[in-house]
Amino acid sequence: MSRTQARPVESERIALKARNVSFSWEDTPLHWVPGDPFTTHTINVLHLLLPAGERWFVQVYKQALPLIKDDRLREDVIGFIGQEAMHSQSHDEVLPHLREQGLDPTPYTAQVDWFFEKLLGDRTLPPGRARRWWLLERVAIIAAIEHYTAFLGDWVLGAAELDRRGADPTMLDLLRWHGAEEVEHRSVAFDLFTHLDGGYRRRARTWASAFSALLFLWQRGVRFFMANDPTLTGPEAAKASFKDFYDRGRAGVLPGTGAMLRSIPRYLGRDYHPSHEFSTAQAVAYLAASPAALAAEQAERSLKGAA
Ligand SMILES: [Fe+2]
Ligand SMILES: [Fe+2]
Repeated sequence: MSRTQARPVESERIALKARNVSFSWEDTPLHWVPGDPFTTHTINVLHLLLPAGERWFVQVYKQALPLIKDDRLREDVIGFIGQEAMHSQSHDEVLPHLREQGLDPTPYTAQVDWFFEKLLGDRTLPPGRARRWWLLERVAIIAAIEHYTAFLGDWVLGAAELDRRGADPTMLDLLRWHGAEEVEHRSVAFDLFTHLDGGYRRRARTWASAFSALLFLWQRGVRFFMANDPTLTGPEAAKASFKDFYDRGRAGVLPGTGAMLRSIPRYLGRDYHPSHEFSTAQAVAYLAASPAALAAEQAERSLKGAA
C-alpha cells in the first residue's frame, strides 16, 4: 500500500475550540440574496446537508478516537468534533425559519438523514477487520468532504460580490463563521486519515464516492428548493441548470466551476496536504470580527467573570 507523503505547514497549526454562537433569523428574507432565488437556494442546500452530515462526522470520529496514538492529533480531533457539532446545530436552526416562510424541507432532509444514518452509518459488523475497514473508509470519506468544506469556506470568506448585492448579513455571518472554522480545522480530517491509514488507493476511491455523492445530493437539493419555493411559479420553479450554476460562478456569487475543477487534482496529488492551501490567518481574522463569534466570546467571558 502506498503511503501519503504529506508534509504539513507547521505555522498553520492552531489549537481548535468550538465557539458557542447563536443567530436570530427573524429578519432574514426567504431570498436572502436579493432577487436571486437560485443562488439563495444553492447555498441553502448547506442547511439541508450539514446538520445530518456533520452529526455523522462526530459519530464516526468518536469511534476513531481510541485508535489515535498521537496526543496532539487527539486534541485536534476533539476540537474538530466540538466545532462540527456546533456547525450542525447552527444550520439546523435555520430550518424552522424556512418552514415559517412556507418552505418545508422535511421531505428532502428525510432522504439526507437516510443517506448518512443508514447508508453511511454503523453497520452490524463483527469486531475486527470488517469493522475497522468500514471505519477507515468513512474516515477517508470525511477527509475528502473536508477538502470541499475548506474550499467553500475559503470561497465564502472572499465572496465580496454577495455583500455588494446586499445579501443578508446574518446569513453571511453564519456562512463565514462556519467557513472560517472549516479553513481553521482543514488539516484535521486529512491528518487523521493519514495517521490511521493514508493509503493512496483509498484516498482516490473515497474522493470519487464523496464527490459524486455531494454533486448528486446538491443538485437534488437545489431542485427541491426551487420546486417548493412558494414564491416561484411556472417555468422559474423548475429552473435549476448547470448553466445557472456556471453563470453565478462567473458573477462571483457562487464558487467558480473552474476553481472547483482545479481543486480535484490538488486533492489527488501525492504530496497534498490541506495546510498547503488557504489561509489560517484570513480565517482567524474573520473569527475575530464575526458578530456571532464575538457575541459568543463575550458571553463566555461574562460567564467566567460571574463564576
Ligand atoms: Fe463544519
Ligand atoms: Fe469541517
